[in-house]
Amino acid sequence: MKVGRRRLVAGNWKMNGSLAANERLLDALKAGLKPVAGLEFAVFAPFPYLAAISSLLSGSFIGWGAQDVSEHDVGAYTGEVSGSMLREFGCRYVLVGHSERRQLFGEVDMQVAAKFAAAQRHGLIPILCVGETLEQRELGATEVVVGRQLDAVLDLTGIVALKNAVVAYEPVWAIGTGKNASPDQAQAVHAFIRERLALRSKEIADAVTLLYGGSVKASNAAELFTQPDVDGGLIGGASLIADDFLAICKSAENA
Ligand code: 13P
Repeated sequence: MKVGRRRLVAGNWKMNGSLAANERLLDALKAGLKPVAGLEFAVFAPFPYLAAISSLLSGSFIGWGAQDVSEHDVGAYTGEVSGSMLREFGCRYVLVGHSERRQLFGEVDMQVAAKFAAAQRHGLIPILCVGETLEQRELGATEVVVGRQLDAVLDLTGIVALKNAVVAYEPVWAIGTGKNASPDQAQAVHAFIRERLALRSKEIADAVTLLYGGSVKASNAAELFTQPDVDGGLIGGASLIADDFLAICKSAENA
């Protein structure tokens, strides 16, 4: 049962969009979504669009966030964006450790943990992304990899930090491939994540929101979201198409 857990459906736009396209998309979301008790909606946009998004979404129940944050607070870090800057643009959430950051930009577990801590220092809710590659899954190493990614954060921040955070399980092999984890595969890893957190606090493990991400579509969302340990989704490609994202949000309403 998901009673008592925050549920969330969020769109990760990745490096897509334009001022005009974002406005069209957000207009469609504002028109198509209605508030649902216990369920939140959010979009994760590239940094330069956050100012426009904060005015387009101001006063609406749709939240927004960034796709990355610096582990540093201020200073000589050319190209970086701090958590306090994100707060100034009304971000509620920030993604940390997305697999594209890990794989394409060399982010390692310790750095992801530092970003998680920086997000919380600035009042942002980090969405910690974890997940294994296809090779790791085929080697039977999914739990080792996901466990290590979780422990890096827990060792730095302590389990209490998970009271105000979200974990997204995003198997790398399912991202942008059209090949989602089956509902059983997703549920099994979500249950493992909750068990791993429960080693440190069962109460916090039971309450933490766990999202699934990786080729979520209107056609598979309902079955994924009704799994007992799946509390919503982090949606890539389908979040750029208003009708698709709205249909996915709708599936979460009844899950
Ligand atoms: P897709 O939904 O495009 O597979 O992307 C998932 C993702 O990476 C969300 O963060």
